[in-house]
Amino acid sequence: MALLCCAMLVLLCVFNIASATIEVHMDYGGVPLWINRLLGEPSVISLQGRLDSAWLRANNPQSCPQQCDCPLQWPTALYCDHRGLADTPDHLPDRTQYLFLQGNNISSLSSCFLANVTDLRWLILDHNQLQSDTLGQIGLQNQTELCYLFANHNHLRSVPSALPAGLKQLRLAHNQISSISPGALKNLHNLTLLLLQGNKLRTITEGDFKGLVSLNLLDLSSNLFSAVPRHLSPSVEQLYLSNNTLSALNEDSFVGFFNLKYLRLSNCSLRSGVIHQKVFNFSSLVELDLSYNKLKTVPTVPTTLRYLYLEANEIQEFNVTSFCREVGPLSYSRIKVLRLDGNRMSHHQLPSDWVFCLRVLESIYI
Ligand SMILES: *[C@@H]1O[C@H](CO)[C@@H](O)[C@H](O)[C@H]1NC(C)=O
Ligand SMILES: *[C@@H]1O[C@H](CO)[C@@H](O)[C@H](O)[C@H]1NC(C)=O
Ligand SMILES: *[C@@H]1O[C@H](CO)[C@@H](O)[C@H](O)[C@H]1NC(C)=O
Ligand SMILES: *[C@@H]1O[C@H](CO)[C@@H](O)[C@H](O)[C@H]1NC(C)=O
Ligand SMILES: *[C@@H]1O[C@H](CO)[C@@H](O)[C@H](O)[C@H]1NC(C)=O
Ligand SMILES: *[C@@H]1O[C@H](CO)[C@@H](O)[C@H](O)[C@H]1NC(C)=O
Ligand SMILES: *[C@@H]1O[C@H](CO)[C@@H](O)[C@H](O)[C@H]1NC(C)=O
Ligand SMILES: *[C@@H]1O[C@H](CO)[C@@H](O)[C@H](O)[C@H]1NC(C)=O
Repeated sequence: MALLCCAMLVLLCVFNIASATIEVHMDYGGVPLWINRLLGEPSVISLQGRLDSAWLRANNPQSCPQQCDCPLQWPTALYCDHRGLADTPDHLPDRTQYLFLQGNNISSLSSCFLANVTDLRWLILDHNQLQSDTLGQIGLQNQTELCYLFANHNHLRSVPSALPAGLKQLRLAHNQISSISPGALKNLHNLTLLLLQGNKLRTITEGDFKGLVSLNLLDLSSNLFSAVPRHLSPSVEQLYLSNNTLSALNEDSFVGFFNLKYLRLSNCSLRSGVIHQKVFNFSSLVELDLSYNKLKTVPTVPTTLRYLYLEANEIQEFNVTSFCREVGPLSYSRIKVLRLDGNRMSHHQLPSDWVFCLRVLESIYI
């Protein structure tokens, strides 16, 4: 019986963690947050409803703003999330390094709100009503330790200026951003992740991304781009451009991206005629997502590609030369997963020679 109870408890815990993970995923702009416990980084799961505030307050000798919870095990973390706050808490403790303010109703930040805090590392402001200029006015550039700044799902109209140079992640997805303040990003040499999906950007100008020499993941999905933007960072390995209406992919659309591995171009209204035959001819590419477009043929892809997603197109023809320009002992396609479901072809339409080219294929959906 005791054993059974134990098993039930474990099951419950597993279930809790699983549902919590989904919540985390939604809250932070779609890219999960990795926690480094060795560095003392706190849990990102809200304390709301998990722990009794009064108990926390009674058992923690340290000062804690009335509107927040201060857990004993993470003395540097302040959880003030999901409480309908219209304003930031007064008098943040000096010790604050991890500040959770997501899921409130905050539209502006007082300019001295961080005045006594010098060691801030994360500032999480997702799901509020923040207006554009407010982030530029709180002296963020003085927060030299700040590495994560999240303000997804707010009302920002531009990428704020005066950001601190040490930032590693900037998440501004699902705002109304139509411009990037001049020079806003130019000092962010350590930035590795930039989320701007779900905004109103039409173009990137030459200086915008110039300083982003470490950028790895750039999400520009669901914006108003009509062409692959120029002047992106050559260091990018993951480039997401889905849900833009792109008029064409030219020979040089991705020229200069020597590190590009994961490219997402799903739902971009692409037709076969506007895709240049050489546009994907670079050997760093590992995964290419062209699902939900209007392609009639399989585009030419490099032999080094491993994952190709072409579901929900209008493909009627499958020519092996798309994958293999020639077939020989060492000339074959490295494709492992190929999705062709939701097109206008069936299995028996595959040409007889495809197995000689797609030699290491593990899954094909058709
Ligand atoms: C958020 O603030 C606005 C006014 O700024 C108010 O009308 C609204 O009711 C508030 N919403 C919540 C959920 O508190
Ligand atoms: C900063 O600290 C001083 C001295 O403790 C205090 O008077 C002031 O109200 C604090 N300011 C904020 C914004 O917390
Ligand atoms: C930022 O630091 C500078 C110089 O240390 C100081 O003059 C300025 O008042 C600070 N800004 C804010 C908003 O704290
Ligand atoms: C960028 O990262 C490097 C290596 O971690 C660090 O030495 C440097 O101080 C960081 N730059 C800023 C402006 O924080
Ligand atoms: C594309 O837009 C649809 C509808 O707005 C949305 O559900 C989907 O998540 C978006 N996909 C991406 C990759 O942003
Ligand atoms: C494609 O984009 C349109 C509008 O941009 C959106 O309504 C639709 O849900 C998207 N489809 C998918 C599969 O993301
Ligand atoms: C792809 O590029 C290589 C050089 O990087 C070139 O030799 C090859 O002919 C190109 N293939 C196609 C199909 O354009
Ligand atoms: C496949 O494409 C090549 C080159 O474009 C062409 O020569 C060949 O005839 C095509 N094969 C079929 C079966 O259409």
